[in-house]
Amino acid sequence: MQMLGTAVKGLDDLESLIEPLQALARRHLSYGVMVDDYTPVGNALLYTLKAGLKSDFDQQTRQAWIKLFSVVATVMREAAYPEFNAATYVNQKAITIKASTQYWL
Ligand code: HEM
Repeated sequence: MQMLGTAVKGLDDLESLIEPLQALARRHLSYGVMVDDYTPVGNALLYTLKAGLKSDFDQQTRQAWIKLFSVVATVMREAAYPEFNAATYVNQKAITIKASTQYWL
């Protein structure tokens, strides 16, 4: 969450976040994090924001967070998984989900 706070503060200068995020992604390899794990973490973040912000979590806010998480997750996945290609990536674990759940990564 602290890192996402940094990301939110750094929105006007996303490029300065690339190197720290690449290093963060490589550290996550040593935590055993796999490429598909970013999706449920992103969804958990969205769920937490929705539960906390309630009616303030409108479509615009939701889309903004999706965009931010997508950019952060893409930078991290590209840094840590050489085979990752954002254009063709399909999450292999995202099979059994509620019909109402949208997977956006
Ligand atoms: C937007 C994506 C993510 C961000 C910004 C993020 C951020 C962080 C940060 C700042 C730390 C503190 C340690 C460090 O700086 O190396 C950390 C630790 C950790 N993260 Fe993430 N993370 C992300 C995704 C994930 C994912 C997808 C997983 C796996 C489901 C994960 C699992 C962990 C684990 C296991 C630790 C170590 C906890 C500990 O041993 O103290 N993270 N993360």
